Amino acid sequence: MPAMLILGIESSCDETGVALYDTKDGGRLLTHALHSQIAMHRDYGGVVPELASRDHIRRTVPLLRKVLGDSGRSLGEIDAVAYTQGPGLAGALLVGAAFAEGLAAALGRPAIPVHHLEGHLLSPLLSRRAPAFPFIALLVSGGHSQLLRVDGVGQYRLLGETLDDAAGEAFDKTAKLLGLPYPGGPALSALAERGRPGACQFPRPMLNSSSLDFSFSGLKTAVLTRVREIGEPDEPQRADIARGFQDAIIDVLVGKSMRAIKHSGLERLVVAGGVGANRELRRRLDAHAGKAKVSVFYPELEFCTDNGAMIALAGALRFEAGMAQKPPGAFAVRPRWPLGELTSS
Ligand code: KG4
Ligand code: ZN
Repeated sequence: MPAMLILGIESSCDETGVALYDTKDGGRLLTHALHSQIAMHRDYGGVVPELASRDHIRRTVPLLRKVLGDSGRSLGEIDAVAYTQGPGLAGALLVGAAFAEGLAAALGRPAIPVHHLEGHLLSPLLSRRAPAFPFIALLVSGGHSQLLRVDGVGQYRLLGETLDDAAGEAFDKTAKLLGLPYPGGPALSALAERGRPGACQFPRPMLNSSSLDFSFSGLKTAVLTRVREIGEPDEPQRADIARGFQDAIIDVLVGKSMRAIKHSGLERLVVAGGVGANRELRRRLDAHAGKAKVSVFYPELEFCTDNGAMIALAGALRFEAGMAQKPPGAFAVRPRWPLGELTSS
């Protein structure tokens, strides 16, 4: 197949991401640009969907101009336009989808709808040290917590998932309880570093069950109960609570990942999604995996949270695998879309 220049557009939540990926010589990310809406949503304590949609409209064209300028490429050189079709916020997805489909139609090039979680799953392939297939993936983001077996592009088998809150959601809600700003994950983990290990003990939900499913809502309730018992926790007490919460959630994520590895007999673990940026999670996974002779692969930190690069990459890999067919013109977004539906067979 001739080399292709793929434009990737991500707009499923509160980040507008645009990237250019060149499939030449095994593939290379040329450049990417991102606008995060965190500051805009912060006053509301979470993402306001209508504001998110409107901001994506404002940001997409300037970001596209930037990636074209930075890479020295022109609009006419783009061979296909990949975009996030779902899951995510309906209005936000529609902005990216309509823009991408419109641009693709104007250029007379194909548009490639991409599953957001497939983007996260494949994001470690953007790293110099990229994993080979098959691997086990721990996908931990604001909206999802899943363990999957990945046999190739488009070959995803769900092994376990959260029964209630996602890991990132648990971080965000707990952070809110402790009075930390949105998004809570990074703020909570920074606070946890000042907490004393073992000072606050919280349950490890489902750690000892044989299933690979997760449940995090009980953990959040345990934190709430502790905060109420104390009344108004001071800074050191809040740090101890944050430490106890983070240790509990990481124990569960590490324990279940290692169990999935053991059951599968595979030797490679990929960690993707926003929570994969957590330093303590990385430290503890590396320690356990080292003992079990398992290699762990992470996306670059900038590609853990939402970005256009992973969408451009997933679009390129789908196109190369002949899995990107779609009738020209017609499109729909899929705010709810189980990843398992991508797997053929
Ligand atoms: O993948 P992502 O950008 O968006 C979704 O697809 O959901 O993940 C965002 C989530 C948020 O819940 C955020 O709090 C969490 O990832 N997160 C973290 C860290 N950085 C981001 N959680 C824990 N520790 C971090 N360092
Ligand atoms: Zn995401």
